[in-house]
Amino acid sequence: MNTYAGSIGLFDSGIGGLTVVKTLKEILPNEKLIYIGDTANLPFGPKPRQRLQTLSYRLIGYLLGRGVKLIVVACNTSTPAIFPEVMTDFKVPIIGPVKAGAEEAYFRSGQKRIGVIATEGTVRSGIYQKSLLELDPEIKVISQAAPGLVEAVERGEVDSPATIRMLQQYLSVFIGKIDTLILGCTHYPFLKPAIESILSEEVLLIDPAIRLAQQVKELLVQRQALNNGTGNYEFWATDVNKLKSTFLQRASKELGILPLDFKQLDL
Ligand code: DGL
Repeated sequence: MNTYAGSIGLFDSGIGGLTVVKTLKEILPNEKLIYIGDTANLPFGPKPRQRLQTLSYRLIGYLLGRGVKLIVVACNTSTPAIFPEVMTDFKVPIIGPVKAGAEEAYFRSGQKRIGVIATEGTVRSGIYQKSLLELDPEIKVISQAAPGLVEAVERGEVDSPATIRMLQQYLSVFIGKIDTLILGCTHYPFLKPAIESILSEEVLLIDPAIRLAQQVKELLVQRQALNNGTGNYEFWATDVNKLKSTFLQRASKELGILPLDFKQLDL
C-alpha cells in the first residue's frame, strides 16, 4: 500500500535540504512533504559520481515506491549524477536546484561576474559553470569547492572560529571579483550570516531554493496536482544517530519548520 500518494518527496545527504523544505513550505503551505536525509552516507561531496548515482537512484526509487507525485532533489551534489537520465526514466517530475540557482544568479547579477561555492563533487562536475554559460557565454564564473563545510553545518558549527577560518580561506578567491555568489550546496544557507560577515555587502547571495520552490509550484499547477488539504512534513534519516538534535531543533525553529520529529529509515 502506498501511503504517500499526492506527497512531494525530497532528499539530501543530511539536514541541508531542510533549507529547501523551508521555501517549499512557504510557497506551497498545503503540500505534504516527505524528506529523507541519507545521513548514513553523509557527506556526498567527496564521493565519486558512480557512487552518488547509486545513492541518489536508491533514494529516488524509494520515494517513487511510496507513490510521491514529484521529487525535489534537495542536493546540488546529486544533481549532476542523476540528470538528465532521471528526467526521462521516471514517471513523475524530478527537479533539482542547479538550473534554478543559475537562472536566479544570471537574472539578478548586474555585472555578470558570478561566484559558485559548492561541494567538491558539484564543482568537479562543472554543472553550475555549464548552466550559467548556457544562459550567457559572456558570464565570468569563478567556482570554489569547500570541503568540510557540510560536516561543520551538520555539527551545528555555523559560526565557530574553525568554520569562519575555513570560510575566509574559501571565499578569498571571490574578493573583488564577483557581484553575485551562488550558495551551491543546500547546507550553505545555514552559513549565510558568516558568509555575509566576510564578503562585502555588495555581493548578492543566491539561495537556489527560492526559485526552485517557484518552479515546483509551476510544475504542480501545470499538472493540476496541487494539494488543497492540510500540509505537513515528515523527516526520515537513514541514520538518526548522526543527527545532532540540539542544532536540528534550533535550525528547524529558525527555518520555521517545527515540530521536529524524525524517524529512522532503513533502506
Ligand atoms: N547538501 C548537499 C548539496 O547541496 C551536499 C551534501 C554533502 O556533501 O553531503 O550539495
